[in-house]
Amino acid sequence: MAIFLDTGSIDEVKKFHKMGIIRGVTTNPTILKKAGIQGGMEAIKKVSIEIAKIIQPYPLSVEVTTNEKQKMISQAKELASWAKNIIVKICIHGPNGELDNLEVIHGLKAKNDIRINVTAMMSAQQCFLAALAGADYVSLFGGRVNNMGYNAVEEIKKLRKLLDDFELKAKIIVASTREILNVVEWLQAGSHIVTVLPELLQGMIIHPYSKETVRQFLDDAKKVGNK
Ligand code: E4P
Repeated sequence: MAIFLDTGSIDEVKKFHKMGIIRGVTTNPTILKKAGIQGGMEAIKKVSIEIAKIIQPYPLSVEVTTNEKQKMISQAKELASWAKNIIVKICIHGPNGELDNLEVIHGLKAKNDIRINVTAMMSAQQCFLAALAGADYVSLFGGRVNNMGYNAVEEIKKLRKLLDDFELKAKIIVASTREILNVVEWLQAGSHIVTVLPELLQGMIIHPYSKETVRQFLDDAKKVGNK
């Protein structure tokens, strides 16, 4: 089981990587925009290469920015060439349910041996099919599932059983964290990985009562020293 960091911020990656608590990083175009990345593919390449270098050999997921079949294939090859630890993210289908994506994913695995993270999935059945197509990672958007009124935990349990029963090698990444509670809950439900926003990861570490306790120790240490 592992925690990935869901960010495009180099500073956040450095901060948590130094602590030894993350085992990978995930990005998407929205996350890169939020991190202030501007300048198209060149800018994505620069930040991706830098993050990949910081966390190597741990994986960095970088998403294709197109849904056109041939462009997805050529872009996937390009992203994968930037660093050995880059995993290419491809959505389960297009914005109108276009079905090219699984064929692209299957082809990239079979012909090019590119590692793929299939993303934007909201159900165990989508993830199961992506795993059958050859995905190395399947990203279930737990927070979005919960926001639709379904409990992500049930989807995670179902998915883990399917992957284990069918002996599929894909690892489950539960993404789209919304609350600190999600992280341990989703790992315990059977996810191999939860990818966590930096602010939530920081919130997992800091506890108000720990602050008070540390303050007490430091104050009393001074008093002991004064004797
Ligand atoms: C990470 O792999 C996902 O792309 C990300 O967690 C999605 O988060 P969101 O649902 O908040 O956009």
